[in-house]
Amino acid sequence: MNEQQKQFQNMVVYQIYPRSFKDSNGDGIGDLNGIIEKLDYIKELGVNAIWLSPCYKSPNEDNGYDISDYCDIMDEFGTLADWKRMIDEMHKRDIKLIMDFVANHTSSEHKWFKESRKSKDNPYRDYYYWADKPLNDWKSTFGGSAWQYDEATDQYYLHSFAVGQPDLNWENPKVREEMTGVIDFWVDLGVDGFRCDVLDQISKDFDSESIGNGPRLHEYIKLLFGRPKVSHIFTVGECWGANADNIRLLTGGDRKELSTVFQFDHILVGCCNGCKFIPQEFVLDDVRDALVKWQNIMQDNDLLTTLFFENHDQPRSISKYANDTDKRYESATMLATMMFLQKGIPFIYQGQEIGTANYCSDNIGDFRDVETINYYNSNCKNVSEDKLMKGINYGSRDNSRHPMSWSKGLYGGFSESEPWIPMYNRYKEINAEADINSEKSVYNYYKQLLALRKSSDAFINGIYENITDNKWGAYIYKRSLDNEEYIVICNFEDQNKINLDINGEIVLSNTNRSSVNGIYSPYECVVLKCTKTEVDMV
Ligand code: GLC
Ligand code: CA
Repeated sequence: MNEQQKQFQNMVVYQIYPRSFKDSNGDGIGDLNGIIEKLDYIKELGVNAIWLSPCYKSPNEDNGYDISDYCDIMDEFGTLADWKRMIDEMHKRDIKLIMDFVANHTSSEHKWFKESRKSKDNPYRDYYYWADKPLNDWKSTFGGSAWQYDEATDQYYLHSFAVGQPDLNWENPKVREEMTGVIDFWVDLGVDGFRCDVLDQISKDFDSESIGNGPRLHEYIKLLFGRPKVSHIFTVGECWGANADNIRLLTGGDRKELSTVFQFDHILVGCCNGCKFIPQEFVLDDVRDALVKWQNIMQDNDLLTTLFFENHDQPRSISKYANDTDKRYESATMLATMMFLQKGIPFIYQGQEIGTANYCSDNIGDFRDVETINYYNSNCKNVSEDKLMKGINYGSRDNSRHPMSWSKGLYGGFSESEPWIPMYNRYKEINAEADINSEKSVYNYYKQLLALRKSSDAFINGIYENITDNKWGAYIYKRSLDNEEYIVICNFEDQNKINLDINGEIVLSNTNRSSVNGIYSPYECVVLKCTKTEVDMV
């Protein structure tokens, strides 16, 4: 890690999906002024950075990940003046702003693409990939071929995602120049970092089976972020192709590429043959193995890592990994403890801090996500409606996109009129107001957890060590620095007996326990502070 990465270890990030966070003007769509209203709520939690999903101009085929102007704000979200007020209000509260940077593709409504598709000799033609016929059999992430026929010039263009998201051709130096210009535009306005959307797909090898990790990837990343002008900013790449071999190249302290990445091994373990819509049984050993593996890779290589279970593309963690009904409080608090006391930067997704569970509906009309709808349309003839909707409820990205529930009032306090996507169906039971005002709540536990993490450098710089025995049905690890040592015990089983002979002071518990006796209840977690000599495992 370089000096900057060491500093970034102190970050705690909260992700906002602006469309669904808070509507300030009653049109049913979240907006920037709505975010400003809620900054104190976020600050209070113990957060010091916000990752804002795209707020740029967009026709919203993929809710803002299809950008038609990188240097202006989406009309429904407000204006550049609102944005400036928002970043000022964040900075006043010592909250950093991390913007979303979508480098792999634009919207088909972007002026570059509108020009590009006009004629083969248009100056913007080579901003995108055009070919007489599909160059390979790559599939779009959202279904169908990644090559779309375009009548105007009788050629095909590449889109790794929706048809309205054509891939930019990074081989073209003009594209690289435009995109560094975008970075500089926002850095000049004071942004503190970028989350880089599917970054490892910007370099492509058309002969390869997969779209990502092309031969010029590192050159392009260095070009974007290795420049002195932007050397102070925080960068996290969404890198589905990150692995033990390339992670040092992407994030090494001397590499001038990224501060850190999101990798997805722990998320993908529940993904049947890559299909997120096929419900999977939760297998603790698989998830824990993935977490342990990456904790060790990053620690052994002295790299900065990220800690997350949720974002705007994932179903809610308590529904996927634990119990979202009668053990909802225990599940949400245990998962948070398990994830966020490991080594790395915590990323909390809006609603996670109040234990939001998946949304359930048997009506496809309640869904808005392009990936979900494409999946439904291409399977509804062959798969029974019941089975299809079960899969969609399990895996749909809309699970994390229903409006944030602020209260049990009209539209959950999100808006004064009907939201763009149905209100979260459990908002009367699960909402921020109820959580803030109740002593035993996920929100108040998150506050304690983040305060604990902040209170000791052992959780930030300390050594991580997995000490779980596979037969325990638990995840247990140690964090230690100098003479301070903490043991984090997270139990997944009913009345589990975990034989750890440890004496220590309980510094956090989701069951209010006052002593450790080796027996743990379902989804119980406890954090013990020990002095090294006291630890003796049997
Ligand atoms: C990333 C985003 C996702 C988006 C896709 C295309 O995976 O997180 O929401 O649909 O890229 O931009
Ligand atoms: Ca609005």
